[in-house]
Amino acid sequence: MKIIKLGMIGFGNVAHGFIQALIEKKTFFRKEMGLEFLVTSITDIRYGTIYDPDGLPVEKLASVRDFSEMDQSLFREWNTIQMIRNAESDVIIELSYTDLKTGEPAVLHCQEALLSGKHVITSNKGPIALHYSMLKGLARDNGVKIGCEGTVMSGTPALRLATDSLLPTGITEIKGILNGTTNFILTEMENGSTYDDALKEAQRLGYAEADPSGDVEGFDTAGKIAILAHLVFGTFIKPEDINREGISDITLEDIRDAQKANMHWKLIGSLKKTEKGLEASVKPVMLPEDNPLSAIRGAGNAIQYRTDLLGEITLIGPGAGRKETAAALIEDLLHIVL
Ligand code: HSE
Repeated sequence: MKIIKLGMIGFGNVAHGFIQALIEKKTFFRKEMGLEFLVTSITDIRYGTIYDPDGLPVEKLASVRDFSEMDQSLFREWNTIQMIRNAESDVIIELSYTDLKTGEPAVLHCQEALLSGKHVITSNKGPIALHYSMLKGLARDNGVKIGCEGTVMSGTPALRLATDSLLPTGITEIKGILNGTTNFILTEMENGSTYDDALKEAQRLGYAEADPSGDVEGFDTAGKIAILAHLVFGTFIKPEDINREGISDITLEDIRDAQKANMHWKLIGSLKKTEKGLEASVKPVMLPEDNPLSAIRGAGNAIQYRTDLLGEITLIGPGAGRKETAAALIEDLLHIVL
């Protein structure tokens, strides 16, 4: 049995989903892959750091929201950087809050982990949108890897489909519904809900960012478009430089008018190779019923790759949620350790 030790940064929704997934898939990992994952450390800016080199009690952790019920002997006086350096771990799972302007504090966490010779897996868009090349270089120089599948469309393998399979087919354009919260709100409004009620429900279900303006004003989609630009086209675009419009100005009347014309409002992120360079945008678009993106409901996401050799490929799947994002972390983990 190969034992892999994990250090986690952040104990929020996605961290809980990840711990739950490790518990649910434990037998599969052992029997089918000969792998045993031990969470040796978790640090959260709100609750402190807990550590056990032989593995923390994950069943207990899955049932608590903070560390107040954890055994006192598990606590360490370590900040996040000290945890990264001191805890026995092969992989650091970075799940701190997203900041698309600076990427911090996650960039620092990822750098520190890679410099310490530990693999990094993150669903945090900040460091990948802003500093992917630097982090990838650090990973290479230190003989480790960085996984970021969960930054775009959660566990639906949008990035891996492009980077591992489609690149040689010549991708020329990408279009997609890349934000679960806004698609959920637009769907709920079509069903008669108000904008405010729909947003509250998206927050309750764990789709929305800590600051939901990041979702509804299109920043989150812009971050994902920047990540795709970087990973698929090798072009760095700052999320804040992307031509962007959100959904907060769409009224119930706009939704009704679209429905009468058999159309649906969708927040579309796009990238297109042109003679002038790569064009990027995020904006609400009214799509006819027969467009495949029109049919995406709730927190669902979809991405369309236009390619030279294969024409158009559409990938549809979940785009947000604790379990769905945890799936991406598991995918990355297996890619790294197998
Ligand atoms: N807030 C994001 C969304 C989470 O709604 O899509 C996943 O990136």
